[in-house]
Amino acid sequence: MATATLPRTRTKKLTPHHEKVEILRAAVFHTPRNPFSDATALATFTDGALAICAGRIAACGDYIAVRAQYPDAMVRDLRGGCILPGLIDTHVHFPQLRITGGLGHSLPDWLDMVALPEETRMADPARARAVAREFVHGLASHGTTTALVFGAHFAEATAELFEAASRRGLRLISGLVLSDRLLSPCLLQTTDAAWRDSTSLIERYHGTGRLSYAVTPRFAASASEPMLEVCQTLLRENPSLIFTTHINENLAEIEQVTLLFPQASDYLAVYEKYDLIGRRSVLAHSVHTDAAQLARLAAQNACIAHCPCSNAALGSGIFPMRRHLDSQVRFALGTDIGAGTGFGLLKEALQAYLLQRIAPEPITLSAAQMLWLATRAGAEALSLEEETGDFTVGKAADLVYFRPSPGTTLHAVLANTDEPERILAALLTLAGPDSVGEVRVEGDTVFEGTP
Ligand code: GUN
Ligand code: ZN
Repeated sequence: MATATLPRTRTKKLTPHHEKVEILRAAVFHTPRNPFSDATALATFTDGALAICAGRIAACGDYIAVRAQYPDAMVRDLRGGCILPGLIDTHVHFPQLRITGGLGHSLPDWLDMVALPEETRMADPARARAVAREFVHGLASHGTTTALVFGAHFAEATAELFEAASRRGLRLISGLVLSDRLLSPCLLQTTDAAWRDSTSLIERYHGTGRLSYAVTPRFAASASEPMLEVCQTLLRENPSLIFTTHINENLAEIEQVTLLFPQASDYLAVYEKYDLIGRRSVLAHSVHTDAAQLARLAAQNACIAHCPCSNAALGSGIFPMRRHLDSQVRFALGTDIGAGTGFGLLKEALQAYLLQRIAPEPITLSAAQMLWLATRAGAEALSLEEETGDFTVGKAADLVYFRPSPGTTLHAVLANTDEPERILAALLTLAGPDSVGEVRVEGDTVFEGTP
Protein backbone atom coordinates (compact mmCIF):
# COMPACT_ATOMS: atom_id res chain seq x y z
CA MET A 1 0.00 0.00 0.00
CA ALA A 2 1.25 3.46 -0.88
CA THR A 3 1.93 5.94 1.88
CA ALA A 4 -0.44 8.92 1.97
CA THR A 5 1.10 11.89 0.15
CA LEU A 6 -1.11 14.87 1.05
CA PRO A 7 0.73 17.73 2.72
CA ARG A 8 0.24 18.28 6.44
CA THR A 9 -2.66 20.52 7.37
CA ARG A 10 -1.54 24.11 6.96
CA THR A 11 -1.36 26.25 10.02
CA LYS A 12 -3.49 29.31 10.42
CA LYS A 13 -4.29 32.35 8.45
CA LEU A 14 -1.98 34.28 6.14
CA THR A 15 -3.47 35.49 2.93
CA PRO A 16 -0.32 35.64 0.84
CA HIS A 17 -0.28 38.33 -1.84
CA HIS A 18 0.50 35.86 -4.60
CA GLU A 19 -2.55 33.68 -3.77
CA LYS A 20 -5.78 34.46 -5.62
CA VAL A 21 -8.90 35.28 -3.63
CA GLU A 22 -12.17 33.70 -4.68
CA ILE A 23 -15.57 34.93 -3.50
CA LEU A 24 -18.58 32.62 -3.29
CA ARG A 25 -21.86 34.61 -3.26
CA ALA A 26 -24.86 32.86 -1.69
CA ALA A 27 -26.86 32.81 1.54
CA VAL A 28 -24.34 31.94 4.26
CA PHE A 29 -25.08 30.49 7.70
CA HIS A 30 -22.77 29.47 10.52
CA THR A 31 -22.62 29.23 14.31
CA PRO A 32 -19.30 30.61 15.56
CA ARG A 33 -20.75 30.66 19.11
CA ASN A 34 -22.83 28.12 21.03
CA PRO A 35 -26.58 28.69 20.50
CA PHE A 36 -27.38 26.59 23.59
CA SER A 37 -25.89 29.39 25.71
CA ASP A 38 -25.98 32.42 23.39
CA ALA A 39 -29.22 33.48 21.71
CA THR A 40 -27.27 35.55 19.14
CA ALA A 41 -24.98 32.72 18.09
CA LEU A 42 -26.37 32.19 14.59
CA ALA A 43 -24.66 34.33 11.94
CA THR A 44 -26.78 34.73 8.78
CA PHE A 45 -26.09 36.60 5.56
CA THR A 46 -28.96 36.16 3.09
CA ASP A 47 -27.00 37.97 0.34
CA GLY A 48 -23.76 36.74 1.78
CA ALA A 49 -20.28 35.81 0.69
CA LEU A 50 -17.24 33.83 1.66
CA ALA A 51 -13.83 34.97 0.50
CA ILE A 52 -11.36 32.08 0.24
CA CYS A 53 -7.61 32.43 -0.10
CA ALA A 54 -5.10 29.57 -0.06
CA GLY A 55 -7.75 27.22 1.34
CA ARG A 56 -8.60 29.46 4.30
CA ILE A 57 -11.55 31.74 5.08
CA ALA A 58 -10.38 35.28 4.27
CA ALA A 59 -13.76 36.92 4.94
CA CYS A 60 -17.37 35.98 5.70
CA GLY A 61 -20.26 38.44 5.71
CA ASP A 62 -22.64 40.44 3.56
CA TYR A 63 -21.67 40.29 -0.11
CA ILE A 64 -21.29 44.07 -0.40
CA ALA A 65 -18.81 44.18 2.51
CA VAL A 66 -16.79 41.15 1.39
CA ARG A 67 -16.62 42.48 -2.16
CA ALA A 68 -15.41 45.86 -0.88
CA GLN A 69 -12.66 44.08 1.06
CA TYR A 70 -11.55 42.09 -2.02
CA PRO A 71 -12.51 44.20 -5.09
CA ASP A 72 -10.22 42.25 -7.43
CA ALA A 73 -11.36 38.78 -6.40
CA MET A 74 -13.08 36.43 -8.81
CA VAL A 75 -16.77 36.08 -7.83
CA ARG A 76 -18.85 32.93 -8.28
CA ASP A 77 -22.52 33.80 -8.20
CA LEU A 78 -24.30 31.00 -6.32
CA ARG A 79 -27.39 33.00 -5.36
CA GLY A 80 -30.48 30.87 -4.83
CA GLY A 81 -28.34 28.45 -2.84
CA CYS A 82 -26.96 28.34 0.69
CA ILE A 83 -23.50 27.71 2.09
CA LEU A 84 -22.99 25.99 5.44
CA PRO A 85 -19.77 24.91 7.16
CA GLY A 86 -18.75 21.37 6.16
CA LEU A 87 -20.78 18.85 8.17
CA ILE A 88 -19.07 16.79 10.86
CA ASP A 89 -20.00 13.18 11.61
CA THR A 90 -18.69 12.09 15.00
CA HIS A 91 -19.73 8.43 14.79
CA VAL A 92 -19.97 6.23 11.68
CA HIS A 93 -18.80 2.67 10.85
CA PHE A 94 -16.89 2.18 7.59
CA PRO A 95 -17.41 -1.63 7.29
CA GLN A 96 -21.17 -1.32 7.71
CA LEU A 97 -21.99 0.77 4.64
CA ARG A 98 -23.40 -2.15 2.65
CA ILE A 99 -25.77 -3.28 5.41
CA THR A 100 -27.41 0.11 6.02
CA GLY A 101 -31.19 -0.29 6.21
CA GLY A 102 -31.25 -3.62 8.07
CA LEU A 103 -34.36 -2.67 10.01
CA GLY A 104 -36.35 -4.67 12.55
CA HIS A 105 -33.63 -5.52 15.12
CA SER A 106 -32.40 -4.34 18.47
CA LEU A 107 -28.67 -3.97 19.15
CA PRO A 108 -27.66 -7.52 20.26
CA ASP A 109 -29.41 -9.39 17.45
CA TRP A 110 -28.56 -6.71 14.87
CA LEU A 111 -24.87 -7.15 15.77
CA ASP A 112 -25.11 -10.96 15.54
CA MET A 113 -27.30 -11.25 12.47
CA VAL A 114 -26.51 -8.17 10.39
CA ALA A 115 -23.44 -6.13 11.33
CA LEU A 116 -20.79 -8.59 12.47
CA PRO A 117 -21.17 -11.07 9.57
CA GLU A 118 -20.61 -8.14 7.20
CA GLU A 119 -17.61 -6.93 9.22
CA THR A 120 -15.91 -10.32 8.83
CA ARG A 121 -15.94 -9.75 5.05
CA MET A 122 -13.48 -6.88 5.55
CA ALA A 123 -10.79 -9.57 5.81
CA ASP A 124 -10.78 -9.37 2.01
CA PRO A 125 -8.65 -6.29 1.12
CA ALA A 126 -10.22 -5.99 -2.34
CA ARG A 127 -13.68 -5.77 -0.82
CA ALA A 128 -12.41 -3.34 1.81
CA ARG A 129 -10.94 -1.13 -0.94
CA ALA A 130 -14.25 -1.05 -2.81
CA VAL A 131 -16.25 -0.28 0.35
CA ALA A 132 -13.74 2.42 1.34
CA ARG A 133 -14.32 4.13 -2.02
CA GLU A 134 -18.09 3.94 -1.55
CA PHE A 135 -17.72 5.18 2.00
CA VAL A 136 -15.71 8.33 1.30
CA HIS A 137 -18.03 9.08 -1.62
CA GLY A 138 -21.00 8.68 0.73
CA LEU A 139 -19.51 11.17 3.18
CA ALA A 140 -18.50 13.77 0.60
CA SER A 141 -21.70 13.56 -1.46
CA HIS A 142 -23.76 14.31 1.66
CA GLY A 143 -21.70 17.38 2.58
CA THR A 144 -19.65 15.72 5.31
CA THR A 145 -16.12 17.09 5.33
CA THR A 146 -14.88 15.64 8.63
CA ALA A 147 -15.68 12.28 10.22
CA LEU A 148 -14.66 10.17 13.18
CA VAL A 149 -14.97 6.68 11.75
CA PHE A 150 -14.90 3.20 13.24
CA GLY A 151 -12.44 1.35 11.03
CA ALA A 152 -12.44 -2.41 10.53
CA HIS A 153 -11.19 -5.20 12.79
CA PHE A 154 -8.46 -5.74 10.14
CA ALA A 155 -5.43 -3.46 9.78
CA GLU A 156 -5.28 -3.75 6.01
CA ALA A 157 -8.95 -2.82 5.61
CA THR A 158 -8.51 0.15 7.97
CA ALA A 159 -5.51 1.30 5.91
CA GLU A 160 -7.71 1.15 2.80
CA LEU A 161 -10.08 3.61 4.46
CA PHE A 162 -7.24 6.03 5.27
CA GLU A 163 -5.96 5.75 1.68
CA ALA A 164 -9.41 6.40 0.20
CA ALA A 165 -9.97 9.42 2.47
CA SER A 166 -6.54 10.78 1.58
CA ARG A 167 -7.21 10.45 -2.14
CA ARG A 168 -10.57 12.16 -1.70
CA GLY A 169 -9.13 14.93 0.50
CA LEU A 170 -11.49 14.39 3.43
CA ARG A 171 -10.63 15.17 7.03
CA LEU A 172 -10.84 11.72 8.63
CA ILE A 173 -10.07 10.31 12.05
CA SER A 174 -10.21 6.54 12.30
CA GLY A 175 -8.62 3.52 13.89
CA LEU A 176 -8.37 -0.23 13.93
CA VAL A 177 -11.34 -1.67 15.88
CA LEU A 178 -10.06 -3.65 18.86
CA SER A 179 -11.78 -6.68 20.40
CA ASP A 180 -10.56 -9.83 22.09
CA ARG A 181 -13.72 -11.55 23.26
CA LEU A 182 -17.41 -12.15 22.62
CA LEU A 183 -17.32 -11.74 18.84
CA SER A 184 -16.63 -14.46 16.27
CA PRO A 185 -12.94 -15.52 16.35
CA CYS A 186 -11.98 -13.89 13.05
CA LEU A 187 -12.87 -10.46 14.49
CA LEU A 188 -10.60 -10.86 17.51
CA GLN A 189 -6.95 -9.85 17.97
CA THR A 190 -4.43 -10.72 20.64
CA THR A 191 -3.37 -7.78 22.75
CA ASP A 192 0.11 -7.96 21.19
CA ALA A 193 -1.30 -7.75 17.68
CA ALA A 194 -3.64 -4.94 18.74
CA TRP A 195 -0.70 -2.82 19.98
CA ARG A 196 1.55 -3.68 17.01
CA ASP A 197 -1.04 -3.10 14.26
CA SER A 198 -2.39 0.06 15.91
CA THR A 199 1.14 1.45 16.30
CA SER A 200 2.03 0.85 12.70
CA LEU A 201 -1.21 2.54 11.51
CA ILE A 202 -0.53 5.49 13.86
CA GLU A 203 3.00 5.88 12.46
CA ARG A 204 1.70 5.75 8.91
CA TYR A 205 -1.39 7.95 9.10
CA HIS A 206 -1.66 10.04 12.27
CA GLY A 207 -1.00 13.67 11.33
CA THR A 208 -0.53 12.83 7.68
CA GLY A 209 -2.39 15.36 5.52
CA ARG A 210 -5.94 15.56 6.82
CA LEU A 211 -5.83 12.18 8.56
CA SER A 212 -5.51 11.32 12.20
CA TYR A 213 -5.91 8.29 14.41
CA ALA A 214 -8.41 7.17 17.06
CA VAL A 215 -7.95 4.35 19.55
CA THR A 216 -11.14 2.37 19.00
CA PRO A 217 -12.13 -0.57 21.23
CA ARG A 218 -15.51 -1.72 19.88
CA PHE A 219 -17.24 -1.58 23.28
CA ALA A 220 -16.56 -2.76 26.81
CA ALA A 221 -18.35 -6.06 26.22
CA SER A 222 -15.87 -7.13 23.53
CA ALA A 223 -12.69 -5.84 25.23
CA SER A 224 -11.04 -7.58 28.17
CA GLU A 225 -9.16 -5.62 30.82
CA PRO A 226 -5.79 -6.38 29.16
CA MET A 227 -7.19 -5.00 25.87
CA LEU A 228 -8.34 -1.82 27.61
CA GLU A 229 -4.83 -1.58 29.04
CA VAL A 230 -3.45 -1.68 25.49
CA CYS A 231 -5.74 1.26 24.69
CA GLN A 232 -4.34 3.11 27.69
CA THR A 233 -0.78 2.41 26.54
CA LEU A 234 -1.49 3.64 23.01
CA LEU A 235 -2.96 6.88 24.36
CA ARG A 236 -0.04 7.41 26.74
CA GLU A 237 2.42 6.83 23.92
CA ASN A 238 0.49 9.17 21.58
CA PRO A 239 -1.36 11.82 23.62
CA SER A 240 -2.76 13.59 20.54
CA LEU A 241 -4.93 10.61 19.56
CA ILE A 242 -8.73 10.60 19.93
CA PHE A 243 -10.35 7.81 21.95
CA THR A 244 -13.70 6.51 20.75
CA THR A 245 -16.06 3.67 21.66
CA HIS A 246 -19.72 2.97 22.60
CA ILE A 247 -21.46 3.52 25.93
CA ASN A 248 -24.91 2.96 27.48
CA GLU A 249 -26.71 2.31 24.21
CA ASN A 250 -29.02 -0.59 25.00
CA LEU A 251 -30.33 -2.03 28.29
CA ALA A 252 -29.29 -5.63 27.48
CA GLU A 253 -25.80 -4.40 26.51
CA ILE A 254 -25.48 -2.54 29.83
CA GLU A 255 -26.52 -5.68 31.72
CA GLN A 256 -23.88 -7.67 29.85
CA VAL A 257 -21.17 -5.13 30.71
CA THR A 258 -22.25 -5.24 34.38
CA LEU A 259 -21.81 -9.04 34.37
CA LEU A 260 -18.45 -8.90 32.56
CA PHE A 261 -17.00 -6.21 34.86
CA PRO A 262 -18.42 -7.03 38.31
CA GLN A 263 -15.93 -4.72 40.06
CA ALA A 264 -16.94 -1.66 38.03
CA SER A 265 -19.59 0.60 39.59
CA ASP A 266 -21.12 1.33 36.16
CA TYR A 267 -20.38 1.24 32.40
CA LEU A 268 -18.31 4.44 32.41
CA ALA A 269 -16.13 3.17 35.26
CA VAL A 270 -14.90 0.34 32.98
CA TYR A 271 -13.26 2.93 30.72
CA GLU A 272 -12.24 5.27 33.55
CA LYS A 273 -10.19 2.54 35.20
CA TYR A 274 -7.78 2.76 32.23
CA ASP A 275 -7.77 6.59 31.98
CA LEU A 276 -9.62 6.44 28.68
CA ILE A 277 -12.03 9.29 29.42
CA GLY A 278 -11.07 12.93 28.89
CA ARG A 279 -11.35 15.90 26.53
CA ARG A 280 -10.35 13.75 23.55
CA SER A 281 -12.91 10.98 24.22
CA VAL A 282 -15.97 10.57 22.00
CA LEU A 283 -18.49 8.05 23.34
CA ALA A 284 -21.34 6.97 21.10
CA HIS A 285 -24.98 6.95 22.25
CA SER A 286 -25.29 7.58 26.03
CA VAL A 287 -29.00 6.78 25.86
CA HIS A 288 -29.19 5.28 29.37
CA THR A 289 -26.56 7.26 31.29
CA ASP A 290 -27.48 8.01 34.89
CA ALA A 291 -26.81 11.19 36.86
CA ALA A 292 -23.62 9.89 38.47
CA GLN A 293 -22.07 9.05 35.10
CA LEU A 294 -23.23 12.35 33.56
CA ALA A 295 -21.52 14.26 36.36
CA ARG A 296 -18.26 12.39 35.71
CA LEU A 297 -18.49 12.83 31.93
CA ALA A 298 -18.90 16.58 32.47
CA ALA A 299 -16.03 16.76 34.96
CA GLN A 300 -13.78 14.94 32.50
CA ASN A 301 -14.97 17.09 29.58
CA ALA A 302 -15.77 14.01 27.47
CA CYS A 303 -18.08 14.28 24.47
CA ILE A 304 -21.04 12.15 23.37
CA ALA A 305 -21.77 11.24 19.75
CA HIS A 306 -25.56 11.46 19.65
CA CYS A 307 -27.00 9.24 16.90
CA PRO A 308 -30.79 9.75 16.88
CA CYS A 309 -31.60 7.81 13.67
CA SER A 310 -29.70 4.76 14.94
CA ASN A 311 -31.26 5.03 18.41
CA ALA A 312 -34.72 4.99 16.87
CA ALA A 313 -33.96 2.33 14.23
CA LEU A 314 -32.57 -0.11 16.84
CA GLY A 315 -35.21 0.86 19.42
CA SER A 316 -32.39 1.78 21.82
CA GLY A 317 -34.32 4.69 23.34
CA ILE A 318 -34.53 8.47 23.22
CA PHE A 319 -31.33 10.34 24.05
CA PRO A 320 -31.88 12.32 27.28
CA MET A 321 -30.70 15.61 25.79
CA ARG A 322 -32.19 17.75 28.54
CA ARG A 323 -30.19 15.84 31.17
CA HIS A 324 -26.97 16.09 29.12
CA LEU A 325 -27.50 19.85 28.77
CA ASP A 326 -28.32 20.30 32.44
CA SER A 327 -25.24 18.29 33.41
CA GLN A 328 -23.11 20.24 30.89
CA VAL A 329 -22.01 17.13 29.02
CA ARG A 330 -20.90 18.03 25.49
CA PHE A 331 -22.54 16.25 22.54
CA ALA A 332 -22.46 16.38 18.74
CA LEU A 333 -24.10 14.28 16.00
CA GLY A 334 -23.23 10.93 14.45
CA THR A 335 -24.99 9.01 11.69
CA ASP A 336 -23.90 5.59 12.99
CA ILE A 337 -24.11 3.89 9.63
CA GLY A 338 -25.06 1.03 9.28
CA ALA A 339 -27.45 1.02 12.29
CA GLY A 340 -28.25 4.61 11.30
CA THR A 341 -30.28 5.41 8.23
CA GLY A 342 -27.82 7.19 5.94
CA PHE A 343 -24.93 9.65 5.66
CA GLY A 344 -27.01 12.82 5.96
CA LEU A 345 -26.06 14.95 8.98
CA LEU A 346 -28.92 17.38 8.36
CA LYS A 347 -31.33 14.44 8.48
CA GLU A 348 -29.67 13.43 11.76
CA ALA A 349 -30.23 16.96 13.14
CA LEU A 350 -33.87 16.77 12.05
CA GLN A 351 -34.30 13.39 13.74
CA ALA A 352 -32.82 14.88 16.93
CA TYR A 353 -35.33 17.70 16.68
CA LEU A 354 -38.27 15.32 16.13
CA LEU A 355 -37.35 12.94 18.96
CA GLN A 356 -36.63 15.74 21.43
CA ARG A 357 -40.08 17.22 20.74
CA ILE A 358 -41.62 14.02 22.13
CA ALA A 359 -38.94 13.07 24.68
CA PRO A 360 -40.06 12.59 28.32
CA GLU A 361 -38.20 15.84 29.13
CA PRO A 362 -38.85 17.61 25.83
CA ILE A 363 -36.76 20.28 24.13
CA THR A 364 -37.62 22.32 21.03
CA LEU A 365 -34.31 22.68 19.23
CA SER A 366 -33.85 25.87 17.21
CA ALA A 367 -32.47 25.79 13.68
CA ALA A 368 -29.31 27.43 15.06
CA GLN A 369 -28.87 24.65 17.63
CA MET A 370 -29.39 22.00 14.94
CA LEU A 371 -26.77 23.63 12.72
CA TRP A 372 -24.36 23.89 15.66
CA LEU A 373 -24.78 20.18 16.43
CA ALA A 374 -24.03 19.22 12.81
CA THR A 375 -20.97 21.49 12.51
CA ARG A 376 -19.15 23.35 15.27
CA ALA A 377 -20.15 20.92 18.07
CA GLY A 378 -18.53 18.15 16.01
CA ALA A 379 -15.37 20.21 15.56
CA GLU A 380 -15.19 20.69 19.32
CA ALA A 381 -15.82 16.98 19.91
CA LEU A 382 -12.78 16.19 17.78
CA SER A 383 -10.61 19.05 19.15
CA LEU A 384 -10.68 20.61 15.67
CA GLU A 385 -12.46 23.85 16.59
CA GLU A 386 -9.43 25.96 15.69
CA GLU A 387 -9.45 24.45 12.20
CA THR A 388 -13.05 23.86 11.10
CA GLY A 389 -16.73 23.94 12.13
CA ASP A 390 -17.56 27.58 11.25
CA PHE A 391 -16.41 30.40 8.98
CA THR A 392 -14.23 32.39 11.36
CA VAL A 393 -11.47 34.14 9.38
CA GLY A 394 -8.33 32.01 9.26
CA LYS A 395 -10.08 28.64 9.55
CA ALA A 396 -10.00 26.08 6.75
CA ALA A 397 -12.54 26.66 3.98
CA ASP A 398 -14.55 23.51 4.72
CA LEU A 399 -18.02 24.09 3.29
CA VAL A 400 -21.08 22.61 1.66
CA TYR A 401 -23.10 24.48 -0.93
CA PHE A 402 -26.75 23.48 -1.18
CA ARG A 403 -28.60 24.45 -4.35
CA PRO A 404 -32.24 23.41 -4.43
CA SER A 405 -33.30 21.96 -7.78
CA PRO A 406 -36.26 23.61 -9.50
CA GLY A 407 -39.43 21.63 -8.91
CA THR A 408 -38.45 20.47 -5.44
CA THR A 409 -40.28 21.42 -2.25
CA LEU A 410 -37.07 22.99 -0.94
CA HIS A 411 -36.90 25.22 -4.02
CA ALA A 412 -40.53 26.30 -3.51
CA VAL A 413 -39.96 27.13 0.16
CA LEU A 414 -36.72 29.06 -0.40
CA ALA A 415 -38.23 31.02 -3.28
CA ASN A 416 -40.89 32.28 -0.89
CA THR A 417 -38.99 33.44 2.17
CA ASP A 418 -36.20 35.86 2.99
CA GLU A 419 -36.27 35.12 6.69
CA PRO A 420 -32.92 33.58 7.67
CA GLU A 421 -34.20 31.20 10.37
CA ARG A 422 -36.94 29.96 8.00
CA ILE A 423 -34.42 29.36 5.23
CA LEU A 424 -32.15 27.41 7.58
CA ALA A 425 -35.02 25.39 9.06
CA ALA A 426 -36.20 24.51 5.54
CA LEU A 427 -32.69 23.35 4.62
CA LEU A 428 -32.52 21.22 7.77
CA THR A 429 -35.91 19.69 6.98
CA LEU A 430 -35.74 19.22 3.22
CA ALA A 431 -32.17 19.27 1.88
CA GLY A 432 -31.14 15.76 0.88
CA PRO A 433 -28.08 14.66 -1.11
CA ASP A 434 -29.83 15.76 -4.32
CA SER A 435 -29.42 19.36 -3.11
CA VAL A 436 -25.66 19.16 -2.53
CA GLY A 437 -24.01 21.24 -5.26
CA GLU A 438 -20.41 21.34 -4.07
CA VAL A 439 -18.34 20.33 -1.08
CA ARG A 440 -14.89 21.65 -0.22
CA VAL A 441 -12.25 20.81 2.34
CA GLU A 442 -9.59 23.46 2.91
CA GLY A 443 -10.80 25.05 -0.31
CA ASP A 444 -10.30 21.86 -2.36
CA THR A 445 -13.40 20.50 -4.07
CA VAL A 446 -14.11 16.98 -2.81
CA PHE A 447 -17.55 16.62 -4.38
CA GLU A 448 -19.48 18.30 -7.18
CA GLY A 449 -23.16 17.53 -7.75
CA THR A 450 -24.58 17.18 -11.22
CA PRO A 451 -26.11 20.52 -12.24
N1 GUN B 1 -22.01 -1.49 19.94
C1 GUN B 1 -20.98 -2.29 19.62
N2 GUN B 1 -20.79 -2.32 18.28
C2 GUN B 1 -21.74 -1.54 17.77
C3 GUN B 1 -22.07 -1.14 16.43
O1 GUN B 1 -21.45 -1.56 15.46
N3 GUN B 1 -23.12 -0.30 16.28
C4 GUN B 1 -23.81 0.18 17.34
N4 GUN B 1 -24.83 1.02 17.12
N5 GUN B 1 -23.53 -0.14 18.60
C5 GUN B 1 -22.50 -1.00 18.80
ZN1 ZN C 1 -21.69 2.70 16.52
